[in-house]
Amino acid sequence: MRLRTVLSQALVVSALGFAMTSVQAEGTLKIGLVAPFSGPFAAYGTQMYDGMKTYMSLNGDEVAGKKIEIIRRDTGGSGPASAKRLSQELVTRDKVDFLAGYGLTPEAQASGSVAEASKTPMIVMNAATTSIMDKSKYIARVSLTTLQGGDVMGRWAAQAGIKKVVTMVADYGPGIDAETAFKKTFTAGGGTILDSIRTPLNNPDFGPFMQRAHDLKPDAVFVFVPAGEQSISFMKNFREKGMSAAGVKVIGPGDVTDDHVLNTMGDEALGVITTHQYSQAHNSPENKKFLAAYAKVNPDAGPANFMTVSGYDGMDAIYQVAKKLNGVIDGDKAMTVLRGMHIDSPRGPITIDAKTRDIDQREYIRVVERVDGVLRNVEFEQYPNSKGEDKFECLIPELCKKLSKG
Ligand code: PHB
Repeated sequence: MRLRTVLSQALVVSALGFAMTSVQAEGTLKIGLVAPFSGPFAAYGTQMYDGMKTYMSLNGDEVAGKKIEIIRRDTGGSGPASAKRLSQELVTRDKVDFLAGYGLTPEAQASGSVAEASKTPMIVMNAATTSIMDKSKYIARVSLTTLQGGDVMGRWAAQAGIKKVVTMVADYGPGIDAETAFKKTFTAGGGTILDSIRTPLNNPDFGPFMQRAHDLKPDAVFVFVPAGEQSISFMKNFREKGMSAAGVKVIGPGDVTDDHVLNTMGDEALGVITTHQYSQAHNSPENKKFLAAYAKVNPDAGPANFMTVSGYDGMDAIYQVAKKLNGVIDGDKAMTVLRGMHIDSPRGPITIDAKTRDIDQREYIRVVERVDGVLRNVEFEQYPNSKGEDKFECLIPELCKKLSKG
């Protein structure tokens, strides 16, 4: 009797185990999207979500037999506490298969412990500080690092004959990474840093900082501001202080000439030179396909930008994992698939580094020009990867000749 009970229980368990697996395979694949959808950085969440929807429009809303469900959660800004709480709720209550999004570094840094404790793969779609990767071995990044942007810009500026620079960066992780990397490669190439100014993350008044930079008479101001509204106000202050008239250049990672707001800045953005991974003007079949689908899916949204592309590529990563694991997501197995993953992105080919789980990608040197009546980040030179080599490749000879020495 007793033996029979044990046996029948074992059968129930195995039947249930089987039933659960098949229910899972027929069920949903849940993605928790944690990002700002309100507050000063409200656009970030929507940009990522629009990119994710664009990917689904081209690849279907099912993968490995599972319907995709994206659960959006609004952090309201850069708040680490709310991002962590929302990530925790998504894992414990909604039982998401993936965490994704994270517009700002503090959101990602605070949520890493949730990914680590729950073994939930966390796909970072923007937050760009290098140290985020140390928070959990379940984090993979498909976006960018400002360290790479600063590093490559330092190399480029030195060889382009820029001698004296004032750096002006938002006073938190990605700004400090950009500043540190730029200073290192720019001074190694013979450049001089006149001053390093740091501005508050939220609602900075650039006026007094710009006055200080103006008085130092630099050849260029190296800037990192979080993409969006702040770049508009930075450029406005730059012009009002007479910096453009004095011939001072603006250089920096491409967040300052974010495609989403570039045309709102107007002509003062002309000539700004940046290093970044994505421009709407990127000339490739993958980008054309992406932009056409984006316009169809999001007819009322503003221009697609690098965060939209990260949302799109993040979905590609999730689909690749789901396919490999037949729709049953195990954190450790998912990370094995993510390590070394290759994606043919609208920005160009990208890889998730097998060791660091961080993005390895090309960086483009771009200049803002008017093309067919609209402002564009025109890519004129490229830099191959995130490995810190001195290797620039010219894409548009007239522009290389005009803007770069090498
Ligand atoms: C970040 O907080 O890591 C961040 C925010 C906006 C950007 C880039 C990085 O444009």
